[in-house]
Amino acid sequence: MKTLIEPFKIKTVEEIPITTIGQREKLLKEAFYNPFYLKSQFITIDMLTDSGTTAMSSKQWAGLIDGDESYAGSKSYYKFEKAVKDITGFKYIIPAHQGRAAERILFTLLGGKGKIIPNNTHFDTTRGNIEYTKAEAVDFVTEIGKQADKVADFKGNMDVDALEKFIKKVGAKNIPVCMMTVTNNTGGGQPVSMQNIRETKAVLKKYGIPLFLDCCRFAENAYFIKLREKGYANKTVKQIAQEMFSYADGCTMSAKKDGLSNTGGFIGTNDRKLAEKAKELLIITEGFITYGGLARRDLEALAIGFQEVLNEDYLQYRVGQVKMFGDLLMKYGVPILVPTGGHAVYLDAKRFARHILPEQYPGHSIALEVYRVGGIRSCEIGSVMFGRKDENGKHIAPNMELVRFAVPRRVYTKSHIEYTAEAIAEVYDNRKKLKGVKIVWEPPFLRHFTAKFEYIK
Ligand code: F0G
Repeated sequence: MKTLIEPFKIKTVEEIPITTIGQREKLLKEAFYNPFYLKSQFITIDMLTDSGTTAMSSKQWAGLIDGDESYAGSKSYYKFEKAVKDITGFKYIIPAHQGRAAERILFTLLGGKGKIIPNNTHFDTTRGNIEYTKAEAVDFVTEIGKQADKVADFKGNMDVDALEKFIKKVGAKNIPVCMMTVTNNTGGGQPVSMQNIRETKAVLKKYGIPLFLDCCRFAENAYFIKLREKGYANKTVKQIAQEMFSYADGCTMSAKKDGLSNTGGFIGTNDRKLAEKAKELLIITEGFITYGGLARRDLEALAIGFQEVLNEDYLQYRVGQVKMFGDLLMKYGVPILVPTGGHAVYLDAKRFARHILPEQYPGHSIALEVYRVGGIRSCEIGSVMFGRKDENGKHIAPNMELVRFAVPRRVYTKSHIEYTAEAIAEVYDNRKKLKGVKIVWEPPFLRHFTAKFEYIK
């Protein structure tokens, strides 16, 4: 059969709000033209993020009731630890309430002034946590991974040669860890190949630098390896994931993605000393080592989520739904980052709104208009999120100007996707009318969350 079906049926439904264009224009103004300030009660389709927005299964909901809320030694923690170890193989698993909490602990221990941490592409919170310790975050994604309109199987890959040259230049002693983000969220949810993980590890090993995966979307990455990389078609996704982790010395994870749950995260490591120090910090700020800031029922749901996410019928639907969304947009002629990644469709704002300069935030302008037209929330990943200013105040734009429509897991049906594509197509047809925006207030770190905007007259 050619028709892709959702491999689940719906047991509980949640009403979604329908608003008018007039209401949405007023709401945008009240939200300082930043979608993060919009109230969800006024959003019809929410594609701001795929993080923590998963619909849990009936088994996970049953698991919540079964959660053991003991402060120390909870059986739910041990179930969680077993599920994570089974996939990652790491000796020490330190729970945290979400990915950035794991990052904060790791970089508090490994970061600091003078330290440099490479990645294929750092996610914003990873970069934020590194820079907050006064360390430097650098990206080494391959050239093709920076080009939205070029198709390749593994656009998340690390440029291993550039990485090695850099290590030689700055000295391995200044690089406490190298990260690798699977899939590469900021670069379009693009996967990293097994060969690239292996080659990256080989270079790092030469210089004694540990490799940590930022593994929020490890199952989606593993599924792409199965589909696209020679020698993996007949392996299970679980075997592929296990092999991916076998090359790493540790990981940080936001389990709000491929943990198929609404909250959670962890650090995994084989380094006993690092684990001990991480546990000290954990107790000071997150909670005891068998809950890390989570309700134990959340650990129970995660233990089940880690099994469900490796179900290949689920992954076929998951990656297939995102592809279907991208294909529809391309049929309408809308420029998107190709090929579609694992968790989101990214509009290529440079080609979408050619008349808006990067310093006038074309991606942000598109995101505002898609909300105005269809009540759909998305997120700019471009000059608002990653733009900088040089010493003369000149805007330095990132490689790509994107608008991400992240698809929550198991939440929206085919008609929701069709409705969203139709709204985006309408904005595209009227793209000449799009106006640039300016920032009228911003905080010093991670400005996209709370910055305030106005349209340029
Ligand atoms: N690393 C990556 C690759 C991520 O995508 C995220 C979160 C994090 C780390 C941080 O995890 O949110 O649990 O603290 N990404 C979300 C997103 C927010 O919308 O892509 P967190």
